[in-house]
Amino acid sequence: MTSKNLLLLPGDGIGPEVTAQARCVAEHLMPDLNIDTGLVGGASIDAHGEPLTVDTMVLAKQSDAVLLGAVGGPKWNDVERHLRPEMGLLQLRKGMDVFANLRPAFCFPALLEASSLKRDVVEGLDIMIVRELTSGVYFGEPRGIERGLGDKSFGFETSRYTAGEIKRVARVAMDIARGRGGQLCSTEKANVMESGLFWRETVTELHAACGDGVELRHMYADACAMELVRQPKQFDVILAANLFGDILSDAAAMLTGSIGMLPSASLGVDGAPGLYEPVHGSAPDIAGQGVANPCAAILSLEMAFRWSLNQPGLADRLFAAVSKALEAGARTKDVGGALSTAEMGDAIIAAL
Ligand code: IPM
Ligand code: MG
Repeated sequence: MTSKNLLLLPGDGIGPEVTAQARCVAEHLMPDLNIDTGLVGGASIDAHGEPLTVDTMVLAKQSDAVLLGAVGGPKWNDVERHLRPEMGLLQLRKGMDVFANLRPAFCFPALLEASSLKRDVVEGLDIMIVRELTSGVYFGEPRGIERGLGDKSFGFETSRYTAGEIKRVARVAMDIARGRGGQLCSTEKANVMESGLFWRETVTELHAACGDGVELRHMYADACAMELVRQPKQFDVILAANLFGDILSDAAAMLTGSIGMLPSASLGVDGAPGLYEPVHGSAPDIAGQGVANPCAAILSLEMAFRWSLNQPGLADRLFAAVSKALEAGARTKDVGGALSTAEMGDAIIAAL
C-alpha cells in the first residue's frame, strides 16, 4: 500500500497551536502518513505577499487531505480586500473544488453542562449540516461597490446557483442521510429569493428521481435557525447554501457548548483530496497563550481519516479517545477546564 499524504496548513492565530496537537495525534496513529506543511492566510501574506500561493495550491491538489488551522487576525485588517487572509481560504476551497462542507454538531455527554441550552434540549444531539461551499453569494458575479454616487452609491453581489451545483451537494446530503437517520431538511429563502426557489425545485426533483430511503422536507433558513435553538433534536441532516450554511452551522455549533469542539470536512468529487478545518476561527484574543481547545482540529483529523485517508478504524479509535478524555475530566478553558492546548492533546493521545 502506498502511503498517504497530508498537507498541514496551520494558518494564523490559534491555528498553529491546535494543528500542532493534531499533528502529534496523526504521527502517533498513522506513522507512515507523509505530513507536509505550507502557509495560508496571514502567514502566507507575511511570507509571500498573498494569502495563497500557486505552489501551496499545487501541493493541496497533490495531497490526499489538507488539514487547515484557521486564517485571519487584526494584523491584516488593513490589507487590500482581495489579499485578505480569508481570501486564501476561499481560493483554496474553490481551487480544490470541495463543494460539500460537512459540519457535524454533536454533544459529548461529558460536556452537556457547557451548553447554554437546557440539558434535555441538547442531550443526544447529533446533526450533520451539509453546506454548499464553492458557489452562491460567496462567489457569484457580478459583485462590487459603486462609490461616489452619494446616497445612491451601492454594494451588491450575486446569489447564483446552477442546477448542477445544487444537485451535486444535495446528492451528498442524501447519501449521508441514508447512512444516518434518513431525514433531510433542505433550507433556503424560496419566499424571497429566486435562487432559493430554484434550490427548492431542484432538490425536490432530485429527491423524486433518486431520493429512495430519504425523507425530505423544506424549511426557510430563518425558521431553521429558530428551530435549531427551540428543538434541535428534530434535525438529522440539514442542507444549506453557502451563506445560510455558514450562519446555521455557527448556531448549531453553540448548541454543543463550544465552537472549540467542532470539526468540518469539505469534500469534492470522489477520490479528490478533502479539506479539513475546525469550525472555529483564528481567535486572536487567545492566540499565543497555549490555551486554545485542540479538539476541533483533532476531530477534523478524525474526519480526514474517515473521508480521505481510508482509515475508518483509526477514526473510530480517535473519536472514542476524545470522548474518553472528556469523560475523565480533561477540559480546556472554553469548556470550563484549565488544561493547556498541549495537555489536552496529551490527554487524548493517552486515551487512545
Ligand atoms: C467559516 C468562516 C469562513 C466562511 C470565513 C472565515 C471566510 O466563517 O468557515 O464558517 O465564511 O466560510
Ligand atoms: Mg463561519
